[in-house]
Amino acid sequence: MARIVEPKIEETNTESDEDNWTIGAEPFKPIDMTQVANKKGKIAAPTSQAIKRAADILRGGDPIGLPTETVYGLAADACSDDAVAKVFALKQRPQFNPLIIHVASIEMAQTLVHMCPLARLVAEHFWPGPLTMVLPRLPDCPVSLLASAGLDTLAIRIPAHPVARALLDEVATPIAAPSANLSGNISPTKAQHVADQLDINIILDGGPCKVGLESTILKVDDNQLILLRPGGIAVAHIEQAIGHAVDPLTNPDKITAPGQMIAHYAPSKPIRLDALDVAANEGLLAFGKPLPGAKMVANLSVGANTTEAAANLFAMMHELDASDCAAIAVMPIPDEGLGQAINDRLQRAAAPRDKS
Ligand code: TXA
Ligand code: MG
Repeated sequence: MARIVEPKIEETNTESDEDNWTIGAEPFKPIDMTQVANKKGKIAAPTSQAIKRAADILRGGDPIGLPTETVYGLAADACSDDAVAKVFALKQRPQFNPLIIHVASIEMAQTLVHMCPLARLVAEHFWPGPLTMVLPRLPDCPVSLLASAGLDTLAIRIPAHPVARALLDEVATPIAAPSANLSGNISPTKAQHVADQLDINIILDGGPCKVGLESTILKVDDNQLILLRPGGIAVAHIEQAIGHAVDPLTNPDKITAPGQMIAHYAPSKPIRLDALDVAANEGLLAFGKPLPGAKMVANLSVGANTTEAAANLFAMMHELDASDCAAIAVMPIPDEGLGQAINDRLQRAAAPRDKS
């Protein structure tokens, strides 16, 4: 099983020899696609044995195909940066859109996000079901920062499909799952649609999706419900059931519509991209062999692997931002693999910001 080195900040040792920066780091093993590709019979009937096998694969850090009542999801352990990076790699997404986090219960949701009384009301009416709420992450929320693309909110729902619920009960951990299609393709509503485009170990066959359309996404903010994406539950139905208006998205500065880039993670320190040298007061976000002379170094991938780098990106940006470095210098990252999405994120983080 490929294991990604833990995100790790290393003090730069000015007297270091060439090997010092790899001390303690395990070499990164790229995902062995022969282990996951083209397995015969990867569509599995959802027997309890198959659900246990899928749970083992998930716990081992690999994605699976999961039926929900809306569309099939490409599901991964939401608390593992490594597993979430594999989801982006498999989907070939050019950007890190934040993913929906699926949980087994309201109790589990409350360990991840702050649920105000209005959010609880919505949850009690519509969970399990095709409704997602965007809520503030709790400070100790264990969900991968990559899964929420560095945002301080999480999109969360309890799916209603019995197979999804059985899997969530079995793994007892939150599951990140975007629709199980290649980026740009339409969402899959049958197991075969998933098998046609994604090479994964197992796709649990839950039959055709009853809703066949992604979940409705509401942002819950300041006792207001804002529609971010129309979907499986009609707005009128929500308003009628809970007696509370659902507002259209009117302030795109506050939050951008899903599908486009959401208000991006903006570090407080200045960021300098494609750095070929580094100042003594700068923190270095390294890729491959680090440049010498930085105040501190966070290495996205010692072995210059873009999937590993994606897994570490947000956690390391947060760590450098929280450090006492004056600024962050980022080494060049090639546009191959997840490099394109990493560079997209870095460019947004480095873009001049309106401070108002
Ligand atoms: O029905 C569904 O929602 C399916 C099934 C598998 O659950 N999932 C799905 O995921 O449609 P995906 O990744 O294709 O769409 C997730 C949407 C994206 O448009 C994303 O921008 C938005 O949710 N989203 C996720 N986290 C968000 C956040 N923190 N704030 C705003 N939007 C968010
Ligand atoms: Mg999708």
